[in-house]
Amino acid sequence: MKSSIFFVVLTFSLILLHSCQQDEKTTEESLKSVYKDNFHMGVALNTRQITGEDSIGRALIKEQFNSITAENIMKWMYLHPEPDRFDFNLADDFVEFGLENNMYILGHTLVWHSQLADWVHEMKDSASLAHYMLNHIDTILSRYKGKVNGWDVVNEALNEDGTLRNSVFYNIIGDKYISMAFQKAHSTDPEADLYYNDYNLCQEEKRNGAIRLIKSLQDKDVNIDGVGIQAHWSLVYPSIEEIETSILEYAKLGIEVMFTELDVTVLPNPWDLEGADVDQKFQNNEKMNPYPESLPDSVDVKLAQRYEEIFELFLKHEDKISRVTFWGVNDRYSWLNNWPIRGRTNYPLLFDRDYEPKQAYYRVVGVKEDSQVEAEESN
Ligand code: G3I
Repeated sequence: MKSSIFFVVLTFSLILLHSCQQDEKTTEESLKSVYKDNFHMGVALNTRQITGEDSIGRALIKEQFNSITAENIMKWMYLHPEPDRFDFNLADDFVEFGLENNMYILGHTLVWHSQLADWVHEMKDSASLAHYMLNHIDTILSRYKGKVNGWDVVNEALNEDGTLRNSVFYNIIGDKYISMAFQKAHSTDPEADLYYNDYNLCQEEKRNGAIRLIKSLQDKDVNIDGVGIQAHWSLVYPSIEEIETSILEYAKLGIEVMFTELDVTVLPNPWDLEGADVDQKFQNNEKMNPYPESLPDSVDVKLAQRYEEIFELFLKHEDKISRVTFWGVNDRYSWLNNWPIRGRTNYPLLFDRDYEPKQAYYRVVGVKEDSQVEAEESN
């Protein structure tokens, strides 16, 4: 009698547990689970998501992604606002979130000409600027040693023709600032993965410049683990062929290839603007903001097809690609609503303004599922 009561109670508990688990489950699959054997699936977090003000976004990040990048708060102007003062409050919270959720944490970015603190622009001599640049790297990497897995050590050092950009670092320290930055990062945290990150890296001239830059570091035995192709793309730019050539060319250098800031704009491109130079800004008008209320289905389908072809290519070269990071969680907070024209309504990501998965999301998941079916059929 006792054992049959025990059996009834146990069965009832199991049914209850099962139905609770079903309630908690929001989607059948996640980007990170579907691509777990291929590459990290990452996302950039804004301040709201780091502080928890955007709790829905934060939950979605935990559910879908296994790598995080800070969209803004680890940039020089926030982390190092005065020569002898660092502010790690938000960065600590960001890193804590990644550690709690067992994620690959990416530090973005150590040396970049943009979003610098004003005082850096006042530096006039090479020795002082080099001192502060190395101190910047050393202080930050010492704090996050063993916690942050990889760093965008140098960001956007190249012009479109592949020559070195006239940044404050280049103008004052000279081209050696790049190898100095990588060497300091490696000596402070030898375990961290170190990357060069830039936009338009699939365009031939700029790609050749990036390859020259990486080879020159390798020739000097400077540790560089990978190249971050930012991937601020459109429905047509760059072509799949250009992306594929780039994956192959960069992989020949023996380094990891990553797509680090993926988004696909669906809005008109003023004056055929390409890439992501943050200094380029234009005026808003109706022609330039054609979908202020919602995205027509025909364009949503094009976006989904574009993401599908991109992920088919990524999967084809998964042995060379270590991470794909989206530049934002959902369309609502994408930087592309404000660049290169402020106040537009853009739709570049996989989740919509209400945090719901878009057709593009299902296509990205579908690419992997289709490849598994094909593999099973051919066995
Ligand atoms: O923090 C201020 C806030 O106080 C103010 O109320 C608000 C009003 O506009 O502006 C806020 O600052 C903005 C900041 O993002 C944080 O939201 C800046 O105006 C805005 O210019 C800044 O834009 C960022 C941009 O980098 C600046 O360079 C974007 O969010 C960020 O997505 C973008 O990210 C870069 C990568 O780091 C490198 N690759 C290109 C990529 C896109 O430009």
